[in-house]
Amino acid sequence: MLVKVLNEGELKNSEMKDIIVKGAKFTLYRVKDEYYGTDRLCTHKDGPLAEGYLENDYEVVCPWHGAKFDIRTGKCTGLPANNDIGTYKIVKKDNEIFVEITEITKHACKKNCEHCKCEDNKKS
Ligand code: FES
Repeated sequence: MLVKVLNEGELKNSEMKDIIVKGAKFTLYRVKDEYYGTDRLCTHKDGPLAEGYLENDYEVVCPWHGAKFDIRTGKCTGLPANNDIGTYKIVKKDNEIFVEITEITKHACKKNCEHCKCEDNKKS
């Protein structure tokens, strides 16, 4: 099921933002005119990736200790993290951005982490 996340242009080039929609929680990135989605938390010690920054276009750098991940594949590309992050299928259609939500997507994040202040997270 495709669920609308935002309109094209709401996110500027090289910006990222945490998204919570229909039970899915992920970080959305815009690089040039393409969009990517990954898990929100670093696999090292759960650093909030949306508070980091993008390097070399496609690498998100964790704000806490500098681990790096390729946002296209989720592959860990820099220590101190060793494990990859999950990715989400993002679709751009008629100037709108959608995420594909599956049961797996909905339940990917089960952590009641302190970074997520949403009501949805409190219920899960
Ligand atoms: S929490 Fe991300 S590098 Fe440590």
